[in-house]
Amino acid sequence: MNSFNYKNGELYIEGLNIHSIAKEVRTPFYCYSFNHLKDQYNKLDQSITLGNYQICYAVKSNSNQSIIKTFSKLGSGADVVSIGELKRALEVGISPNKIVFSGVGKSLEEMQFAINNNILMFNIESISELRRLSDESIKLNTKSPVSLRINPDISAGGNEKISTGKAEDKFGIDWRGASESYDLAGSLPGIKIVGIDAHIGSQINDLEPFEKSFDRLSKITKSLRKKGHEINILDVGGGLGVKYHPDDRPLDIEGYGKLLSEKLGDLDCKIIIEPGRFLTANSAILVTKTLYIKNTDSNNFIIVDAAMNDFIRPTLYNAYHQVVSVKEGKKDTVLKYDIVGPVCESGDFFRKNIKMGSIEEGDLLAIKSVGAYGSVLSSNYNTRPSINEILVNNDQFEIIRDRVEVEEIIKRDKIPNWI
Ligand SMILES: Cc1ncc(COP(=O)(O)O)c(C=O)c1O
Repeated sequence: MNSFNYKNGELYIEGLNIHSIAKEVRTPFYCYSFNHLKDQYNKLDQSITLGNYQICYAVKSNSNQSIIKTFSKLGSGADVVSIGELKRALEVGISPNKIVFSGVGKSLEEMQFAINNNILMFNIESISELRRLSDESIKLNTKSPVSLRINPDISAGGNEKISTGKAEDKFGIDWRGASESYDLAGSLPGIKIVGIDAHIGSQINDLEPFEKSFDRLSKITKSLRKKGHEINILDVGGGLGVKYHPDDRPLDIEGYGKLLSEKLGDLDCKIIIEPGRFLTANSAILVTKTLYIKNTDSNNFIIVDAAMNDFIRPTLYNAYHQVVSVKEGKKDTVLKYDIVGPVCESGDFFRKNIKMGSIEEGDLLAIKSVGAYGSVLSSNYNTRPSINEILVNNDQFEIIRDRVEVEEIIKRDKIPNWI
């Protein structure tokens, strides 16, 4: 479903004209399509033909509670990586037995809270973490359900900063040492082995890395079972890729569903899938206003009111995001622009050398595909406010995150009386 379309030369999200929203909500703001979120979830859900599976939405991609709740109402559980994400998931009513806790550095406080809330399982990433969880569980008179995250040493993902499944990455336990690690886990009094887990990276548009990872997980599961370990849950992680660039070939989602069945269907496990980006990336635009046009000998700059603190993916990953004018571009005068924000960094840009119909000061632009790893990575750098997020459902919208104004941010500083 494409929720962003031009009608009579104006950009709409679902049934709402962006200009009309911008009259009520201060720019810049994140603007999500409720029906796109639901469609993506349903598309993935329908592609999976396994008998026993659970989609656990990777909350890190977008932790707004309205987004989590949208998926939860469709049946999703949650993959969380902090006590904060866990609290958000519980707050919107996700049942603890649909929650998995991932991440390389769980603190004691996080372990205690998750144990007390009876989550489905901990995805454990190192031997030290395994021992710590065992100790903590004994203190709380219980055994914690655990899967070990196996690092399968598979290269995947478009950018080295989002590759997580190679031997040199910080994630998981080397697959070659899986057997000994499970033997140790089985001997620890506070641990109950329930599963196995891997997550090889993000924005993966080919089936091949998934196929390799599923094969490796299947083999390891069979050999662990032979040794008597009970592996009833197999968590394949997330990483499902989407289309950012018009030329991108997105992941064949039906093919992904088939692969799950072909490679893992015979194992009689509950299969957990942890998608983030696939569900949220293309659900949103960032609406921003042109403050100034600055023409120099070498460049035409569009200086907008959004900045890298609001949306850092271009700066951080050199990520490509389409940018369009909310008023359909004038085709007669096409110019090359750099679209930049007001933050005092050369890295504060959204696009360089983009060809667009001429833009005037005051024009609204939409930065596309910002729903995943967008608002969650925002900061208050340069003492800029946290901006609104809104959710559109057909011809209505609601604010789903309030702006945090600069006065509130400034108030958090404390000044000792000896300065
Ligand atoms: C353990 C784990 N699961 C799931 C995800 C979600 O990945 P994606 O948004 O690419 O689906 C991540 C992302 O980093 C992750 O680390």
